[in-house]
Amino acid sequence: MNVLLIGSGGREHALALSLSRSPLLTQLFIAPGNPGTEALGRNVTLDVADHRAVVDFCKLMQVGFVVVGPEAPLVAGLVDDLEAAGVLAFGPSKAAAQLEGSKGFTKDLCAQFSIPTADYQRFSAPEPAKAYVRQRGAPIVVKADGLAAGKGVIVAMSLAEAEAAIDMIFGGAFGAAGAEVVVEDFLEGEEASFFALCDGTRALAFASAQDHKRVGDGDTGPNTGGMGAYSPAPIMSEAMSARVMKEIIEPTMAGMRQRGTPFKGVLFAGLMIGSKGPKLIEFNARFGDPETQVMLARLNEDLLPLLLAAAKGALPAGPVKLSAQTALTVVYAARGYPDAPERGSEIKGLDRAATMEGVTVFHAGTKREGTRLLANGGRVLNVTARGDSVAQAQARAYGAVDAIDWPGGFCRRDIGWRAIGK
Ligand code: AMP
Ligand code: GLY
Repeated sequence: MNVLLIGSGGREHALALSLSRSPLLTQLFIAPGNPGTEALGRNVTLDVADHRAVVDFCKLMQVGFVVVGPEAPLVAGLVDDLEAAGVLAFGPSKAAAQLEGSKGFTKDLCAQFSIPTADYQRFSAPEPAKAYVRQRGAPIVVKADGLAAGKGVIVAMSLAEAEAAIDMIFGGAFGAAGAEVVVEDFLEGEEASFFALCDGTRALAFASAQDHKRVGDGDTGPNTGGMGAYSPAPIMSEAMSARVMKEIIEPTMAGMRQRGTPFKGVLFAGLMIGSKGPKLIEFNARFGDPETQVMLARLNEDLLPLLLAAAKGALPAGPVKLSAQTALTVVYAARGYPDAPERGSEIKGLDRAATMEGVTVFHAGTKREGTRLLANGGRVLNVTARGDSVAQAQARAYGAVDAIDWPGGFCRRDIGWRAIGK
């Protein structure tokens, strides 16, 4: 079958690699893709915001299945429009993508269906939000309701910081995403990411991972899209994964169904594992980036039938076959990321890195100019390695980072520290 993959990041390079290995695949198209996906399929220029154009492309090229990587097209209803035109797609409907598109929506769902999460309130004006913050005390967390590219969350250590965050969001720092604010209690514990494939009715545990959101070593500096990850997350034991399925994922599936907006696709739960068990920090309605790079590095079965089954409402009983090895990825970013990444610096030595044992280098923000490979974004490469332990995967990944010649780049040097320190 012909498959169209939407997106251009390291996540999509990893998805493209897995899809390209499927015996079910005839031709893979990636819109727009990146220099890494070029070798795995055909990169195509398509205006993904123009749903009619995407449908027309699918008809013309006999695309039987569309896999949507990023959240924006999901929240814009691309899957609804594809399905209305008879094209099968992996990802939630616009209504179900509200699990990522509106933090208030998700918090209300949690309240309605007793899903463990931080206590909260929603606000549409600054004064009541500030009064609530003063009543609850610090630390406290202030969030813009809508999509804010991962920047709309302020973990405030003082009341002054929380009030400033409320003013900033209502002041328009995140545009329409900040028309509403969620204020919630600060949760203590260890963070983990958990992914489940969902078919509208059932959910199947996929894999766990741990991200490193802060830009600097030791988890310092501003939040980013993610500076590195490893899978599995040691804290997500089988017992903890089973609890998350039972206490968070399954009630969400049941609740969404009951509301008439069943969830299909992949549900990405950002969790805080505290002394009383798992609590939901947030949902995403898509695969994580860079979590996907490490989860797929461990996948020991064909990805395409799993995604097809989720889209068709017919997930297998499972479990998903995963390698017991650890995979770890280091995000190699352009200097200046996340505020002002410098574009255009040249990257050399990728071939050398890619032949090292257990290593795969995924492209994200790169571009080719003639024979040269240039940085063209914030997160530029994801240097990924498998190993028998987190320490081995880490040593291999940093060995490959050091084989790459890119003076314009930087990376964290401590990805995996939490797992190795134990
Ligand atoms: P989010 O975009 O909602 O995942 O939030 C970004 C980051 O803020 C999370 O990965 C957590 O580190 C932190 N965070 C969000 N909500 C809370 C909370 N209620 N308590 C503690 N930390 C939080
Ligand atoms: N790495 C976090 C995310 O994909 O949202």
